[in-house]
Amino acid sequence: MLGRLFGNASQRVPSFLKRMSLIMKPKVIFVLGGPGAGKGTQCSKIVEAYNYTHLSAGDLLREERGRAGSEYGQLIDTYIKEGKIVPVEITISLLRKAMEETMTKDETKSCFLIDGFPRNEDNLHGWNKDMDGKADVKFVLFFDCSNEVCINRCLERGKSSGRTDDNRESLQKRIQTYLQSTRPIIKQYEKHGKVRTVDASRTVDEVFAEVKAILDKEA
Ligand code: ADP
Ligand code: C5P
Ligand code: MG
Repeated sequence: MLGRLFGNASQRVPSFLKRMSLIMKPKVIFVLGGPGAGKGTQCSKIVEAYNYTHLSAGDLLREERGRAGSEYGQLIDTYIKEGKIVPVEITISLLRKAMEETMTKDETKSCFLIDGFPRNEDNLHGWNKDMDGKADVKFVLFFDCSNEVCINRCLERGKSSGRTDDNRESLQKRIQTYLQSTRPIIKQYEKHGKVRTVDASRTVDEVFAEVKAILDKEA
């Protein structure tokens, strides 16, 4: 009788969760670290183990650069080669669109790993202007490792990535941008107790073990 009134458990639970997620704000973890620190690698592993969607700002910009008819293709190309940070209006519109598309397709997908963002004051300002109150930033997951490890990993990746910025010249500039513009953003979040730091110099599995411990604790 109750089963007929309320539906059986397997029907009832998903629809309830779906409705809950409609009224829940998207939950966001910002993923930061130097170029080659392993952000993308670790995000892929998180996606396999948890119900998170991975959005890489760099991947979205590369996709937009290659989109036929994009008015920003040339600008993005230049910024990426120079290791500079693209104006936030472009990046935030790509991120917002990707978040909306994900949640429209499946409303239970409301947890996002936003990788490589916010990378400077302009990024942070753009996020606060556009997304404040619309998403809950839980914390920054910070992959910490030396510049030397970062450079070596990117040069190794450059042998097969086809990326225009995995070369010594671009990497010097990317490291400078990271030190001058991104580290201060991480420091700002640190002041508010919102950074979870992982030693990213170890093996992929060792790093992931620490990431899992953080995510399980925060859940
Ligand atoms: P990011 O997204 O931070 O730029 P990636 O995840 O693309 O970094 O990793 C950069 C390169 O280093 C890739 O070739 C990847 O396979 C490799 N890599 C990632 N994590 C590790 C690790 N813990 N140890 C050694 N190599 C790694
Ligand atoms: O994160 P990833 O290494 O893929 O970023 C590559 C490049 O994309 C950066 O060096 C930068 O030029 C651009 N980018 C950006 N703004 C972001 C993220 C990436 O301009 N928030
Ligand atoms: Mg990456």
